[in-house]
Amino acid sequence: MDDVIYLDHAATSAPKPERVAARIARYLQMEGLSAGRGSYRRAVTIGQEIEGGRKKLASLIHAESADRVVFTTSGTEALNLALGCLGQEPGHVIVTSWEHNSVLRPLAAAADRGVTITEVEPGADGRTDPGDVRAAITSETKLICCVHASNVTGVIQPVGEICQLAKERGILSLIDAAQTVGHLPIDVQEMGCSLLAAPCHKGLLAPLGTGFLYLQPGLEDRIPPLQFGGTGTQSEQAVQPAELPYRYESGSRNVPGLIGLAASLEAMSPESIADDAAHQRELTAFCLDRLKGIPGVTVSLPDLPGELRVGVLSLNVEGQDPRVVGTILDEYFQIEVRTGFHCAPQAHQWLGTAELGGTVRISFGSTTSESEIEKLADALQQIAGSF
Ligand SMILES: Cc1ncc(COP(=O)(O)O)c(C=O)c1O
Repeated sequence: MDDVIYLDHAATSAPKPERVAARIARYLQMEGLSAGRGSYRRAVTIGQEIEGGRKKLASLIHAESADRVVFTTSGTEALNLALGCLGQEPGHVIVTSWEHNSVLRPLAAAADRGVTITEVEPGADGRTDPGDVRAAITSETKLICCVHASNVTGVIQPVGEICQLAKERGILSLIDAAQTVGHLPIDVQEMGCSLLAAPCHKGLLAPLGTGFLYLQPGLEDRIPPLQFGGTGTQSEQAVQPAELPYRYESGSRNVPGLIGLAASLEAMSPESIADDAAHQRELTAFCLDRLKGIPGVTVSLPDLPGELRVGVLSLNVEGQDPRVVGTILDEYFQIEVRTGFHCAPQAHQWLGTAELGGTVRISFGSTTSESEIEKLADALQQIAGSF
């Protein structure tokens, strides 16, 4: 697959690093055990490896302790778990226009029990104004949901200010860090979020089937588990253990995924994340510069400064359905991109791309090179020129 150019890292990072693949292969061939259950030494060792990954992740996001990080099977599961903080009563929730369906759809389902939702649109630069969020708060507001960076345009939101104002008003805040964890430094205590959810298979370079939720101390009393069952702890009791992380981690775990995560995290540090952020900024600036001169190609939010975006860009080719552009890129140029709405319908309403069938999204990873972007720009030039 050497000649294929993969520019869909916002969906999942690929390929996974060699250290991740090697560890999982060894596990599958030589071990294959369950973790956190058996007391024999090999099972204990695998359990410790997973807990080592949890500690590393907790320290990377500066959680108060490792048990505040609960493993899930995806970002979606982490967000659904977090939204349990709304309880069964009616209430009001504020969202931004950039939210993903993994927030919007559970909230739409909650509307059946009287939960109301206010969407706060961004300013012309794509950034949500915390003042607008403040103005949307009512006496019924229970939660503010904000994506850290859009998976459509890459625009970074002022999450620190939004979490701060939520705290001042005694409202919970939920940050969707799907596009930022591993790509930007994250300090949950400094940010002041109540909850932060993310997949581990994107910027953290772990396999699919991994995600996590960070919960501020005390919040577990307000959030029920999504599933109940065996945790390998307090097995003599008929009721779910109250302690974290076990309260939310029932059933046999995704051991290949979680040891893959641990292997990936071993190579990550605040410095490596800062390097990745710089690499993403350089690639984005380079790509924007290359696309700027191509007649018929329009990039969403082209003037957003580099420090306010992650390595995700959306574009349209004049007069062309994004799906057609994606198919041509794939079949004629071996360039893989994502097309359509990217599970963020409100973002396209705001951008005005809904009636165009969404956008062509290109997203960069740690392995993306400028020469790959050159090839993308050449391909887009040919496609735009031929219609
Ligand atoms: C902004 C955002 N939130 C949530 C998710 C859901 O994550 P997952 O695919 O792990 O369920 C994604 C994935 O694309 C995303 O981009």
